Amino acid sequence: MTRPIAIIGGTGPLGMGLALRWARAGEAIIIGSREAERAQRAAAAIRERAGGQAQVSGMENAAACAAADILMLTVPFEGQAALIKKLKSSMTAGSILIDATVPLATAVAGRASRTLGVWQGSAAQQAAELVPDEVSVVAAFHNVSADLLNGDSPLDCDVIVCSDDPDAAQLTRELAAKIPGVRALDGGKLENARIVEQITALLIGLNVRHKGHAGIRITGLPPAAYR
Ligand SMILES: NC(=O)c1ccc[n+]([C@@H]2O[C@H](COP(=O)([O-])OP(=O)(O)OC[C@H]3O[C@@H](n4cnc5c(N)ncnc54)[C@H](OP(=O)(O)O)[C@@H]3O)[C@@H](O)[C@H]2O)c1
Repeated sequence: MTRPIAIIGGTGPLGMGLALRWARAGEAIIIGSREAERAQRAAAAIRERAGGQAQVSGMENAAACAAADILMLTVPFEGQAALIKKLKSSMTAGSILIDATVPLATAVAGRASRTLGVWQGSAAQQAAELVPDEVSVVAAFHNVSADLLNGDSPLDCDVIVCSDDPDAAQLTRELAAKIPGVRALDGGKLENARIVEQITALLIGLNVRHKGHAGIRITGLPPAAYR
């Protein structure tokens, strides 16, 4: 049986887009929400779009956490720390938490094209400080457009993956590469998430200025780097 991926806070644009693309790639998805009913409605919408044999269910976040060992966190920065603290006891040893949180200034009514300073260095490092010791944190998917993920076309975007756990990072790169058009790159240690998170604020500014859905491509590396 396929290992399920629980998308915590998966009812928003990023969670739904990842759910759609991974369901189409044959992954088993559990959409998590603070409300089980909302999660189930979101799961039904993804099943309808992904079609065929799509395996997508919906659960309250804690139940979703307990049912999977790959956890994809897609919540706004203002909810990230409190939610991880709440879910900590539902995370099983050996789990991987993939964090896409961008510490946008919108968390304090500021602009989406600005970020907040995070004491730990990045939102991902804040997550790493809060999860149980036996849970590995990976930072990824900050620079993909949720709008494009929710469409049907291949993306034109690289996903930079940062983690202090090489196995967890590799698994995340494999998941990223299942999204058509995405290349996954080893971005080094989790501390580099600080840089990757900041890029998103720049992309948001570009989107506003040029009315688009900007992504990033890293060029000039040997082909073996893109996996
Ligand atoms: N949107 C993008 O293009 C994009 C791209 C890359 C990275 N990101 C980052 O990825 C994360 C998710 O983005 P998004 O646009 O999908 O976010 P979002 O729509 O603002 O939120 C996603 C879900 O999080 C839950 N949530 C909201 N506030 C919460 C709180 N205070 N505590 C716990 N759960 C809460 C909600 O689900 P329930 O109400 O169902 O619980 C909501 O549907 C953000 O950190 C964002 O910066 C976004």
